[in-house]
Parts: sequence; structure tokens; C-alpha cells
Amino acid sequence: MPVFLRNEFLRPVPRVNELLVRQTAELLLVLTGMPEAELSILLVDDLRIAELNRSWRRKSGPTNVLAFALTEGDDTVMALNLLGDIVISVETAAREAVKERVSLHSHLQMLLVHGFLHLIGYDHEKSDLEAARMHDKEREVLQELQKKRRGKMIRLAVNVDHVATLREARGISEPDPVLAAGICELAGAEGIVVHLREDRRHIQDRDVRLLRQTVKTKLNLEMGAAKEIIKIALDIGPDMVTLVPEKRKELTTEGGLNVAGQKKKLKMVIGQMHDAGIPVSLFIDPDLRQIRAAKDIGATFVEIHTGRYSDAASENERDHEFELIAAAAEEAYEAGLRVNAGHGLNYVNTSRIAALETIEELSIGHAIMARAIIVGLDQAVREMLGLMI
Ligand code: PXP
Repeated sequence: MPVFLRNEFLRPVPRVNELLVRQTAELLLVLTGMPEAELSILLVDDLRIAELNRSWRRKSGPTNVLAFALTEGDDTVMALNLLGDIVISVETAAREAVKERVSLHSHLQMLLVHGFLHLIGYDHEKSDLEAARMHDKEREVLQELQKKRRGKMIRLAVNVDHVATLREARGISEPDPVLAAGICELAGAEGIVVHLREDRRHIQDRDVRLLRQTVKTKLNLEMGAAKEIIKIALDIGPDMVTLVPEKRKELTTEGGLNVAGQKKKLKMVIGQMHDAGIPVSLFIDPDLRQIRAAKDIGATFVEIHTGRYSDAASENERDHEFELIAAAAEEAYEAGLRVNAGHGLNYVNTSRIAALETIEELSIGHAIMARAIIVGLDQAVREMLGLMI
């Protein structure tokens, strides 16, 4: 399925992950039963699309997408499976995405589908009936695309620290976070997270060592960048580490890391982990400066702090925090970072975050453990997974 993608920008435009656009186009060809067809996509700015709009459609000003079909009435071209060109203005797309409060990538995806349907013969300008037919098809294809991408992308990693908190409250051996982790995995979790704190208030060294042997999915060790803990991480070798700021007196991790303010130190830790084959995630607030710093110092992942979104006191505030998270996730994704998110997510506020296509994993602890006490851990995990489709 050859998709030819190029860009022609005469001035700076918002950054686009071209790989994602290409993958979407390839998926589109497969979904519409034309895996062998050839499609060309051109990303441009407003100046260029306005030129094309003027010369081909006699319309003035920029537009979001133009489609130039090669197949119209030409049997040779049809036999060769050449579909034609889709031209998208990234500038117009970005403006529309802000207005419609969606991410740039979901809007680009929508425009791609729209242009693609024109190429294969749909035309909303012909009649009301045709417009309705095209609209229905657009929705159907978008839903299919989202199902495919999301099915692959969003994962649940369960933080089992609270199981250890309960154990430590009695100072005995039950309940065991190692056993809890196994139940979470059997219920469908695709990762286990534990935070080995310097004060060892919940997770103990023994837990991490045993989990290293028993976790079948992925063990993510959350930790402060302290010498002693770094040594343990290098010794045990989790599947990844998430660096968080750690304060003795806090109840739980309070804010994101100030990566920009301690680049040298964090770069060194990332280097040590990378030498041991351990990818590093940095837990950061949804702040573009921190994302750029994370990219600069070689992090593989960022985990975007969803605490302010989760704790928002009003719907307006929650909407605002959501937009910050969506923009930060997109910025990180486009910079080539892998993106996780977590903190404070529960059975009411998770779906909206899980729908962000740029995020691949959510790290959730408290809400799942709180529900598990009432309904059982297996069910609590399954119910959360049910909200993440
Ligand atoms: N991510 C990080 C970095 C955390 O520190 C925590 C809390 O331990 C979580 C996610 C999970 O937060 P919660 O327990 O509120 O779901």
C-alpha cells in the first residue's frame, strides 16, 4: 500500500508527526479494501493551498483539504490503482482543531478521511442525499480507524503501592502486592507499577525483587533520582523506570519533575539506565518547557501528570486542564517521545484521557484499590479497562 507523503511549507507551521499521518493513510487503504492502491498526500501551509484553491476551484483564500482524483473516467488509471492526491493545509487544520477542541492529529485524520472519500467518488457538493451518504461513510471510517488505533495503543498499568500500604499498617506479611500484581495481570492489566520510596513506607526491596521474577507484562519502577534507589534499580533491572520528585512529607507524589531545572543530573541518570537497557520515563506536569527538556536529555517516555485535571473543582477548570494535557501529549508525541499519563484518575474521569490517541498507557492506583476493597481486585481492574476502550 504505497502512500507517498511529502510537505511543502513556505513558512513555519505547527509540527506534524508525518509517520502518524502515513500510518493513518495506510490503515485507511486497508479498511476500505484497497490495500494495493497508491495515494499521495501533500501537507502544505495556507499560502500554498490558497494558490491551489484559486487555480483549480476558482475560490479565493485557503481551505483545509483538497482532493485531486486521478481515476475520474480514466480506465487505465483505475486499472493501475492510482487514487490521486490529497492536499491538506496544516495551518488551517491547526486553527480548526483549536476551535473544535480536538487534537491536531485527530483533525488531520478527519481531513484525510474526507479527502480520501472524495478520491473514491463521494461528493457532498452534488446533492443533499450525497452529502448525507458521505457524512455517514466518514463517521463509519473514522470510528473504524479509531477502534484500530486505540485497540493497539492504550494500556492500563496498575500501581499496587496501596496493597503494601495496608500491609505495612500492620507490619505483617499480608496483603501481598506481589499476589495483587498477578491478579491485576490476570484481569487484563498490561503493566505493574510500584514506587520504591526512600522511606520504604509501602513497597519494600523484597517486593521489587519478587515482582521482577513474577510480573509477566511489564514492571515499571517509580523512583526518585536518589543514589541508593538508582543502585537498586540497576541491580534489579525493571522493564522501565519512571523518575518522580520525592518528598518525605508528601502523602503521594505531588507535582511533576522540574526537568528543565535539573537537566544535568537527570541526563546522567537516564544515561546510566540506558547503559543497563532500561528505558526512562519522566513524570512531568503538562508543560511544554518540561517536555522539550525531557526530549533534550534523552528520555524515552514522559508520564503526564493528570492530578490537576483529576482534582479540578469545576467543569471549566477540568476542561482547561484537559486541554493542557491534550496539548502536552501531542507535543511530546510529535517530538518522538512515548507518552504515558497518570495520577488521580478514577472511574469517572479516565475515559476522556484514555481517548487521547497520543497516550499509550495510563498508570492508575488509588481508584482501583479503593474499588477493589468493595468489589474485589479482579472486577475493579476489569471495570477500569472497560472505560478505556
Ligand atoms: N503516576 C505516578 C508517577 C504516581 O506517583 C502515582 C501515584 O503513586 C500514580 C501515577 C498513580 O496515581 P493514583 O494512585 O492517584 O492513581
